[in-house]
Amino acid sequence: MPILDDRSLDFWSHSPEQTVRFGARLGELLRPGDLLTLSGELGAGKTTFVTGLSRGWGSADQVTSPTFVLVNDYRRPDGLHLWHLDGYRLTSGAEARAAGLDDLLADGGVMVVEWPEHLAEALPAERLGLTLRWSDQTRRGLRFEAHGDRYEALLGEFRQASFGL
Ligand SMILES: Nc1ncnc2c1ncn2[C@@H]1O[C@H](COP(=O)(O)OP(=O)(O)OP(=O)(O)O)[C@@H](O)[C@H]1O
Ligand SMILES: [Mg+2]
Repeated sequence: MPILDDRSLDFWSHSPEQTVRFGARLGELLRPGDLLTLSGELGAGKTTFVTGLSRGWGSADQVTSPTFVLVNDYRRPDGLHLWHLDGYRLTSGAEARAAGLDDLLADGGVMVVEWPEHLAEALPAERLGLTLRWSDQTRRGLRFEAHGDRYEALLGEFRQASFGL
């Protein structure tokens, strides 16, 4: 049962496939310029979620963990990009800016950031945050927190699409 208020949503995923489906549902609702941050330990399911997100958003590109490249780029037929940035190896927002973050944020696509706390001061405060928690072999907790009007609206649409509430 999801815990509900206007700014947060908390529920379980019981399989990788279900996490992909939740990702796809959110991906269908994303608009150009949206920012999503992903937190969670190794193996929590961040990349699994992005696999669905990218598909739902409309890209057929393969999703991989950007751990060794800083940023992956998935495209869809209209030319828009979904940027998938891994902040793990960054040590400051300044470093992210030096690597070109502002250009990516301004490019009109969607931005997904793993380890956002490593580049916190370079990221807009308004965003949808998702934290994934390992529970057992096949169960993960997903907690969304919306910051700003756009993301409260987005979370409301996701809640409606996922739980009919
Ligand atoms: N309910 C679930 N949701 C998501 N993944 C699950 C679930 N149950 C089991 N898994 C498994 O957990 C693993 C999650 O791996 P994934 O690469 O998505 O995690 P990650 O958070 O991106 O880790 P890393 O920080 O190492 O990149 C996969 O092997 C997946 O099959
Ligand atoms: Mg990953």
